[in-house]
Amino acid sequence: MKKDSKIYVAGHNGMVGSAIVRELKKQGYNNLILRTHKELDLTRQDAVEKFFELEKPEYVFLAAAKVGGIGANSVALADFMYDNMILEMNVIHTAWKNNCKKLEFLGSSCIYPRMANQPIKEEYLLTGELEKTNEAYALAKISGLKYCEFLNRQYGTDYISVMPTNLYGPNDNYHMEHSHVLPALIRRFHEAKINKLDSVTCWGDGSPLREFLYVDDLAELCVFLMNNYSGNETVNAGTGKEITIKDLTKLVAKIVGFEGEIRWDTTKPNGTPRKLLDVSKATKLGWKYNIELEDGIRLAYEDFLNNPMRAER
Ligand SMILES: NC(=O)c1ccc[n+]([C@@H]2O[C@H](COP(=O)([O-])OP(=O)(O)OC[C@H]3O[C@@H](n4cnc5c(N)ncnc54)[C@H](OP(=O)(O)O)[C@@H]3O)[C@@H](O)[C@H]2O)c1
Repeated sequence: MKKDSKIYVAGHNGMVGSAIVRELKKQGYNNLILRTHKELDLTRQDAVEKFFELEKPEYVFLAAAKVGGIGANSVALADFMYDNMILEMNVIHTAWKNNCKKLEFLGSSCIYPRMANQPIKEEYLLTGELEKTNEAYALAKISGLKYCEFLNRQYGTDYISVMPTNLYGPNDNYHMEHSHVLPALIRRFHEAKINKLDSVTCWGDGSPLREFLYVDDLAELCVFLMNNYSGNETVNAGTGKEITIKDLTKLVAKIVGFEGEIRWDTTKPNGTPRKLLDVSKATKLGWKYNIELEDGIRLAYEDFLNNPMRAER
């Protein structure tokens, strides 16, 4: 990308999209095209076609998606599949029709088989059954990355994809039903502190292992890949480090300043015991994350405190 290339960041108000915009601006890219969801509904084919014909972006970061936690994902299966599939096909197809030079598609680590060997390598894609709770979302994401691959193979495009682990950071979603584990813990401990509760009860026994990447580190990788990577295989994005949910709750409680008891409701499910991405491909390409988990959670909590409306998103 040149500093004045026309770059469209789809989903720029979301956590990932806004981090990509921050990173692009930091690196001096000065010709960004942005549309809110209200201004351009990416599930509307006619609107997407008009937008691409008018703006002709040279590069596209596709960070718009209908996103949710385990609750929303497992209930609204049809909506998650339809909205994401339509949105992806519209944007990727129309970008190609309008000669977009390069597109980067954002997926998620839930595309990998639920019983995949750990750490999960990119090549494990489609080697086993998906996790049922987010099957619809995963299938839509797999279709998006495969469509990029098929365009490359059939028409010689240069469209790539990146699969991040659990993300957190500025602009995260703290909604009670739609948030992921880390922002949900930040909100729960914060509210418990404010309401002077004696204890907070978390689901399961705290034993599962999870990996977390600060979203600004992902954004740096996304810009790096746009400039330095071409290929049909996706690229994992993570830290390669894991933490038990129990230790994570203790860390979040410490940072938020909740001093009560943390209890575990072992009648509730734990989820997958371990989920760690193999990030050696991104590392070999020359990227490494910068922000350690404790520092990142402090930054995320600061952002949460400065933006009380986040909890209502
Ligand atoms: N968050 C994570 O932990 C995580 C982990 C791995 C991968 N990812 C991937 O990263 C990508 C972005 O996730 P995120 O966490 O940044 O989600 P997010 O904060 O919810 O952002 C998604 C953005 O897409 C927009 N959007 C949704 N539907 C749209 C539509 N029909 N037309 C136009 N815009 C639309 C949303 O706008 P509105 O809010 O106005 O609807 C929002 O600004 C997704 O592909 C996700 O799979 C996220």
